[in-house]
Amino acid sequence: MDLHARRADSFGEQAEAYAEHRPDYPVAAIRWALEPLGTDERLDVLDLAAGTGKLTAGLCAEGHRVTAVEPNEQMLSELVRRVHGVRALPGHAEHIPVPDQTVDAVFVGTAFHWFDQQKALPEIARVLRPGGVLAAMWAEPVTDVEWVRELEQVSASSVESQRQDPVSFMAHPSFTKAEQATFPHTHRRDSPEAALAWINTHSRLLVIDEAERAAISDKILAFLRARPETSNGPFDVPLRAEVYRMVRVSE
Ligand SMILES: C[S@@+](CC[C@H](N)C(=O)[O-])C[C@H]1O[C@@H](n2cnc3c(N)ncnc32)[C@H](O)[C@@H]1O
Repeated sequence: MDLHARRADSFGEQAEAYAEHRPDYPVAAIRWALEPLGTDERLDVLDLAAGTGKLTAGLCAEGHRVTAVEPNEQMLSELVRRVHGVRALPGHAEHIPVPDQTVDAVFVGTAFHWFDQQKALPEIARVLRPGGVLAAMWAEPVTDVEWVRELEQVSASSVESQRQDPVSFMAHPSFTKAEQATFPHTHRRDSPEAALAWINTHSRLLVIDEAERAAISDKILAFLRARPETSNGPFDVPLRAEVYRMVRVSE
C-alpha cells in the first residue's frame, strides 16, 4: 500500500481517540453550504467519509435526514455508537452505496483530499438531485496566531501534508465552479495532554513509527507546557473552517 493509501486508511486504529478529541464544524458553515438550495426545509443529506460523525452530528442537529457513508469499520462503529437517528452505511466515495439522484446535498469533512477525485466526482454527481450541492470542508488551525503556527511546526512529522488547492481538484463538468467561504471556529482543550491527544489523531502522526511519534509527542508537550497561552487550564485552539460549495448542473 502506498503512503497516500496508508494515510487515508490510518484513522481507524485511533477511532475512539478521534471521536473524543477531534473538533466538530461550525453550524454557519453547514448553513452557508446549503444556501443554493434556497429552502429552510428538511433535506436529504449525505455525509461522505463521515468518520466518527463529527460533521454528521451537526447535520442531524440542523434537522436534516442524514445518511453517513464511511469505509473504515472502526470509524463507522464509533459513529453508530455516538450519533443516533442516522442511516450509517459502509462505502467509499468512489462507489457510493446510494441510488441515483436521491440526495439534496453531499458533505465531505476533512476528507476530499483522500479520494480518487476522478472517480468520486462523477459518483457524487450521480447521487445528487439536479440543483443539489456538494460541500467539502476542512477544519484547520489558524496559523496566523504565533503559538498555533509554532505548534504546527513542532508537530510536523517526516510525512508531508497532502493539501492542494481544492478549487482545482474539485473542478468537474457536472458542477458549477467552486465558491469558497471561511468560518471562524475554536477547539476547546482542557490541558496540554488533551491538545496532544487531538494532534495525535492526524494521519501524518498515525503512520510513522513508535519512536518518531514518541519524540514528537515529547516536543509537543514541552512546548504546550511552556507557552503562557496553553500551560494553565483550559484554552481554545483557534480554527477556521474552509468551505467549498458547488451546485450539480442539469445535463
Ligand atoms: C480526517 S477523517 C474525517 C472524518 C470526518 N468527516 C470528520 O470530519 O471528522 C478522513 C476520513 O475519510 C475516510 N476515507 C478515506 N478514504 C476514503 C474514500 N476513498 N472514500 C470515503 N472515505 C474515505 C477515512 O476512513 C476517514 O474516516
